[in-house]
Amino acid sequence: MGDSQAEIRVCSSTEELSQQAAGEFVRLAQEAVQVGGRFTVALSGGSSPRSLYTLLSSDKFRDKVPWSKTHFFWGDERHVPPDHAESNYRMASETMLSKMPVPPENIRRIPSEKNAEQAADEYEATLRKFFGLAAGELPRFDLVLLGMGPDGHTASLFPGTWAVRETQRLVAWPYVDKFSTYRITMTPPVLNNAAYIIFFVGGAEKAETLRHVLHGDYQPDIYPSQTIKPTKGKLLWLVDKEAAARLT
Ligand code: 6PG
Repeated sequence: MGDSQAEIRVCSSTEELSQQAAGEFVRLAQEAVQVGGRFTVALSGGSSPRSLYTLLSSDKFRDKVPWSKTHFFWGDERHVPPDHAESNYRMASETMLSKMPVPPENIRRIPSEKNAEQAADEYEATLRKFFGLAAGELPRFDLVLLGMGPDGHTASLFPGTWAVRETQRLVAWPYVDKFSTYRITMTPPVLNNAAYIIFFVGGAEKAETLRHVLHGDYQPDIYPSQTIKPTKGKLLWLVDKEAAARLT
């Protein structure tokens, strides 16, 4: 990838991965609140972040997070109701948000129980309203958390979907053939406008994909994680040693 703004930090275990991510989350949250009085974060879904969210709500970290001044969004969501087992919102709620003193109005989930296009349109309106965006303006999250699938997707930017190449919309609703379902996802311009992006990647099954994403030819339709190149912000790859096994 060669991006001067990207840091790759290899962790010895998934536990250390979560500890490092939690430490960065707290540092960024405290800085953002000190500077601007609030912290805006787009959460990732899947299963890896469970350990991070659980850690943030543990005795070790809970008192370090400015919960009342933190605004939670989601980088992507499955096309299911919020109480569904597959819901990214439900996962974050169960592991963290329902246990911490977060004002309900600070939690802005993607309305994924609705028609996918409608959910995307409504989430765009939510972003425009919260960030006070003029036409053509992008939201700037203090932190975007991302995972990477073994197929190279991130958020719900899946290989071969139109969302990977979307440059105008803030939120897209790609149909993902392999799951026979829609997903709702922030688009690359929104994700890349963040002040800080953390990729959180663990497991041997991702090693070959990670090697290509970081060191291979730029083929974003095959490896959508390659679209993540912050325009002004910082990018931190937090990876465990299994996922990093193929990196030079
Ligand atoms: C989702 C996530 C997705 C996730 C990757 C990696 O909705 O599934 O947002 O982009 O980050 O699939 O998931 P794991 O980290 O659980 O492997």
